[in-house]
Amino acid sequence: MKRKKSIGIFDSGFGGLDIMRGIVKELPKYDFIYLGDTARVPYGTRSKEIVYEFSRQAVDFMIRKNCELIIFACNTASSDALRLIQQKNIPKNHIGKKVLGVLIPAAEEACGKTKNNKIGVMATASTVSSGSFLRELSKVNSQAKVYQVVCPLLVPIVEAGEQNSEIVDMVLKKYLKPLIAKEIDTLILGCTHYGILERKIKNIVGRKVKIISESKIIGKKLKDYLARHPEIEKKLGKKKSRTFYSTDLTDNFQILGSKFFGARIKAKKAVLE
Ligand code: DGL
Repeated sequence: MKRKKSIGIFDSGFGGLDIMRGIVKELPKYDFIYLGDTARVPYGTRSKEIVYEFSRQAVDFMIRKNCELIIFACNTASSDALRLIQQKNIPKNHIGKKVLGVLIPAAEEACGKTKNNKIGVMATASTVSSGSFLRELSKVNSQAKVYQVVCPLLVPIVEAGEQNSEIVDMVLKKYLKPLIAKEIDTLILGCTHYGILERKIKNIVGRKVKIISESKIIGKKLKDYLARHPEIEKKLGKKKSRTFYSTDLTDNFQILGSKFFGARIKAKKAVLE
């Protein structure tokens, strides 16, 4: 009998555990492997070439660990590396395996919610400069006017566990001001670390702005995807196994990672090459 496969979830650090929490909620029976490249986080300030190289190594590792399908929870990796990995690495080295990102589901959700076609995106520098959200949003809705804002301080603040401090409100107000001035009615939280700030963001932009939080939508989209792809679904293990890897084993990963995942996690060390 063939060994059953896992769903892989990859992020630059522990932020993707928030996305994984949402996925596990929708698909509790399945086996999951999480990989956080904590030794090299953040990706959001790095070049496209480096993000691609790190992401390629992550995919190779997860496929060695028996993943059939890998979700890039990281928006930066989804922006800078996903297409090349799908077009080049998978056909060359891992035929039949699937790698999916978070941008298209977020773009579809945002386009389905907006009424005035004014969509805001908060993201890392690398995601914004890649133009990936602009591209995906305009594919779904050619009328969409997209306003992006780079939020460089948010990842370090969240990584430091300071998401509840009043510094966050100050920083968020600064980043959100230009988006509010453009009268956006929909706002994509285009980074793994921003979901945890959703309530604070909501308080600033007001109730009329719909927030697209990837941790709430990716699980549903993946469930639909598996329903449409029974050839993949039937290969997946359903023993509720969860294995966590990180490239640097720190207390921070265990503590904040558990907070993001909503349950205690214990990570094993991953070596990417
Ligand atoms: N995971 C990244 C993202 O979603 C945020 C952290 C980083 O910059 O590596 O874009």
